[in-house]
Formats: sequence, C-alpha cells, structure tokens
Amino acid sequence: MKIAIFPGDGIGPEVVAQALRVLDELSLPGLTLFEGDVGAAAYHRHDHPLPEETLEMARAADAILFGAVGDFSCDDLPRHLRPEQAILGLRSELGLFANLRPAAGFPGLEHLSSLKPDVARSIDLLVVRELNGDVYFGEKGERDSDGGREGWDAMSYNEAEVRRIAHTAFRTAMGRGKKLTSVDKANVLETSRIWRETMIEVGRDYPEVALDHMYVDNAAMQLVKSPGQFDTIVTGNLFGDILSDQASACVGSIGLLASASLGERQTEYGTFGLYEPIHGSAPDIAGQGKANPVAAVLSLAMLLRHSLGCEAEAARIERAVEGILTDGVFGGDLGGSASTGEIGDAIVRKLLTIS
Ligand code: NAD
Ligand code: IPM
Ligand code: MN
Repeated sequence: MKIAIFPGDGIGPEVVAQALRVLDELSLPGLTLFEGDVGAAAYHRHDHPLPEETLEMARAADAILFGAVGDFSCDDLPRHLRPEQAILGLRSELGLFANLRPAAGFPGLEHLSSLKPDVARSIDLLVVRELNGDVYFGEKGERDSDGGREGWDAMSYNEAEVRRIAHTAFRTAMGRGKKLTSVDKANVLETSRIWRETMIEVGRDYPEVALDHMYVDNAAMQLVKSPGQFDTIVTGNLFGDILSDQASACVGSIGLLASASLGERQTEYGTFGLYEPIHGSAPDIAGQGKANPVAAVLSLAMLLRHSLGCEAEAARIERAVEGILTDGVFGGDLGGSASTGEIGDAIVRKLLTIS
C-alpha cells in the first residue's frame, strides 16, 4: 500500500504532520510513504507548483494525503505558476471528478457551531462537489473593452460530465438517507439548465432516492436556516466550493472538515483518491501552532476507508477525534487554547484507549 504525502504550504505541513503521527500509531503492515513537493514549496524548489516528479509519484500511489497550497510569495505569478494550480492539476490530471465533503455536527458539541444548538444538532449532510469542470476549467482570458481591461471565464457542463457526478451522488445518497438535493442556478444559467435536466434523467435509474432541486442562493440561506433538511447535496465545482466552507462554520470550524476526491480508477485495495482538509494554507496563522489538525486527521480516516479498505482503522480514528472534542480539547478556532501539536497528542493518546 503506497501513500503519497503532499504537505504543501502554510499550515499544510503542520496539520499533515499530526495526521502522520496518527498513521504511525496504527502500525499498518505493508505501508510505504513517499513525500512530494506541491504548491509554493514546489515552485521555489523546482520552478513549478506541480513538478513532473510529483505527478509521477501521485500516479504510482494508491492514495494521496494532501495538506494545502497557497502563499503570498506567489501572488504576482502568472496563473499557471500559482500554487493553487497544484491541486487543480492533480484533480484534473488524475481524473478525480467527485469531491465528497461530509459535514456533521459532533454530538454534545453543538456549542461549537455558529448556529443555535438545536439547529446545529440537526446537521448531517454530505456535499458531492463536481471537481473537473465548471468555470474552474473553462477557457479564460483578458481582452479590451469599452470599460477597460475585461477578464472572462467560460462556465460549462456537458451531459457526460453531469451524468458521471450524478451517478456518484445518487449512489452516495443510496448509502445515506436516500434524499438528494441538486443545487444549481437553472433560473439564469444555461450550464445549470443542462445540469438540472441531466440530474432528472439520471434520477430515473434511482427510484428510491428522493431528488429535489434548489437554486444556489436559496441553498445558502437554507443551509444556515434549517440545515437538517439536507442529506446529500450534489452541485457544481464553484457552488460546491462555497457551500462547503459555509457548511463548515455551521458545524463549528473549517478546521474540522475533511474531503475525499475520487475518480474511476480502482486499486488493489479500493478506489484511488486524494484526501485533503477543505481549508487552505491559512497564512494568517501559519507557523504559530494554531492550526486545527482535525480536518487532516479525518482526511486520513477517509483515505483508509475509501482507498485502502481499512474501515476499522478509519472508524477508530473518527472515534478518537470525537473523544478529544468531547473532552474539550479545542484550538483557537473553537475558542480553546490547545496547539496543533497538543491536539495531535490528544488524538494519539485517545487512539490507544480505543480498540
Ligand atoms: P483558508 O481556508 O486558508 O483560511 C480561511 C480562514 O480559516 C483563515 O482565517 C484561517 O486562519 C482559518 N483556518 C483555515 N484552516 C484552519 C485550521 N485548520 N485551523 C484553524 N483555522 C483555520 O482560506 P483563505 O484564507 O481564503 O486562503 C488562503 C490560501 O489557501 C490561498 O492561497 C488559497 O488559494 C489557498 N487555499 C488552498 C486550498 C487547498 O489547498 N485545497 C483550499 C482553500 C484555500
Ligand atoms: C478548495 C480550494 C480550491 C478550490 C482552490 C485552492 C483552488 O478552495 O479545495 O476548496 O477552489 O477548489
Ligand atoms: Mn475552497
């Protein structure tokens, strides 16, 4: 079993280090780890945010654990050299089109949420975000206009792209509450009209799943008003990016939410995938021991479950995380004072008490 580790920039290496301590504690047999450069760290060493050797390492692995990318030192670089191109490049080069972002409240920890406790208690949803298309990967450019320089980005989805994410979403919903909300902007965008019609078409193959549709502006409002109505949400790349950050604040902190990015490739042990917190490199707190490593640790749990077939170990990690939060081990993002390393210590100690 080969895991490629790409820590990246800012708090990426800090949170990944804690996830690796947890992995070490599990003592899984036959595991090999490789570490590669991505983001600004890679740019400064290899003049590229996603060097060829990193991509080769990714292709040779069964799974990837990713930290975060992004750094001010690269703000003035042309877009193709910016650190963010590392994660976008990995997602597209590896065909990782389905991004699963679960957001569930931790029982007894509703006070961590920005919402009222009763509302927070109801959250148990999963965002299925399409990851290879939309305005992210359309043509872009700059041109002259009457109003001066004009930037443009093409937004599109074709039926094949929508169908494959729709199947993932319906299958995911089948394994959860059998309720799927497709989020779009079909009252305005042609992209969304095709999206909605294709969702309805694919839905005919899944009669047990209740499919409904919501405009993205309403969905943003409903997510804070009554998040308990959502089970599985499927949406495009841009809307999914925004709604999942919002969902994290409903749970308590962006430092708590993990993600899995999956494609079609199967390995000997499961589905090949890339696993990362939903947060970024957080330059405002980098290097200060203030980052919450829970999202990275929970990303490791998802990696073990989906790519390596280690369900028992994944569940053990999740219970350990729940345990330390119940014990009140919080960092600054949750109103506490535990450092990144102290949260890691607590998770590792808690693991030892869980068989
Ligand atoms: P961010 O997610 O890095 O930070 C947003 C806010 O949340 C900040 O106040 C930060 O301190 C806080 N935060 C984030 N993670 C935290 C954690 N684990 N513990 C405690 N607090 C945490 O988003 P941003 O500030 O908009 O972006 C910073 C950089 O990260 C940019 O370069 C951006 O492009 C990049 N980014 C990368 C990824 C990725 O690698 N997948 C994701 C999002 C943003
Ligand atoms: C995320 C990030 C990325 C995205 C950026 C860094 C390209 O915000 O993983 O959520 O927009 O997908
Ligand atoms: Mn994001």
